Amino acid sequence: EKGGYDHFMLKEIHEQPSTIYDCLRGRLDAEKGTITMKGIQDNIQALITAPRYIIIACGTSWHAALVAEYVIEELCRIPVEVEYASEFRYRNPIINKGDVIIAISQSGETADTLVAIEKAKEQGAFIFGIVNVVGSSISRASHAGAYTHAGPEIGVASTKAFTAQLAVLLMIALKIAKEKGTIDNTKYSRLLVEMHELPEKVEAILKNASQLKLIAEKYKHSVNALYLGRGYNFPIALEGALKLKEISYIHAEGYPAAEMKHGPIALVDDQLPVIFVATKDEYHAKIVSNIQEIKARKGKVIAIITEGDEIIPSMADDIFMVPPADEIVAPVLSVIPLQLLSYYVGVAKGCDVDKPRNLAKSVTVE
Ligand code: F6R
Repeated sequence: EKGGYDHFMLKEIHEQPSTIYDCLRGRLDAEKGTITMKGIQDNIQALITAPRYIIIACGTSWHAALVAEYVIEELCRIPVEVEYASEFRYRNPIINKGDVIIAISQSGETADTLVAIEKAKEQGAFIFGIVNVVGSSISRASHAGAYTHAGPEIGVASTKAFTAQLAVLLMIALKIAKEKGTIDNTKYSRLLVEMHELPEKVEAILKNASQLKLIAEKYKHSVNALYLGRGYNFPIALEGALKLKEISYIHAEGYPAAEMKHGPIALVDDQLPVIFVATKDEYHAKIVSNIQEIKARKGKVIAIITEGDEIIPSMADDIFMVPPADEIVAPVLSVIPLQLLSYYVGVAKGCDVDKPRNLAKSVTVE
């Protein structure tokens, strides 16, 4: 049932070329330049004219929401707020006429997300659900939605569901931007091709998984770890830190890279691994100087970089390369090595990676 893999988590990480493909299949046609999503098409007016989107989710799904915030604001020019479902449900949230609520959940059963939806519905909001489990409570409670089609996720830590959430959110952002006229045709066509190429790029990353096993061996005795990223990769830093703490019980924190000066830099010594999500994008020069600041304080730098990067390899202690991609789709790629790193650290420490202590696959109590 684990398909020859030692754990479900590893199997599910390796399934991502096909789960991303399945998620795009029948929806995204890069040749024709079309994105077909019934839940979006049927509600296109409400989605285009919405004054604001509010995305609610928990955990890893909340990290997908943060990526979506950056992408939707950039491509669709619609203000987006991202809320933890557990906070949203208790704080008498302001929902204005026309606001659209997007709820993201792998299981479709997370109690806080479900109650948050009910609260928003009472205030007349339109609910769009992005869910993996077909027929789940959240899918039924939503007015419209899109399934992620990642298949059953058995490992408690979310991996393939996350990349499928990103794929769905990117398609939604592209479709709405196209309908709204906030993206030019060249960029739209190019990004569709970039999306289409994701499964093979993920496959290429997975071929180098053993490199991460070696890095994991080096750092498995660490007590703390810091994850830093900027822009579209900032939520990926958060996700990398969450994965490491769940799977290996190493204390890890994620931050926007520039924020490190406002506190976290105090943690840096010659024992601290700092994982930079530093793929080529418009912030590259900035992240290079952040790496220099960590090295000046003798921190250990592990950098996820783009193939062909000529600057970071000479600065970092360890690097892992991912194929070049537009910065908007890059999070789908840069998260994969972080999933693998957590997996290998967890295994090296003898942790139960498929069922980390104290965690449940779906959190149906608050
Ligand atoms: C992390 C993880 C959790 C879930 C969270 C939300 O690896 O699995 O943080 O992401 O409990 O669950 P769903 O997406 O089912 O609502």
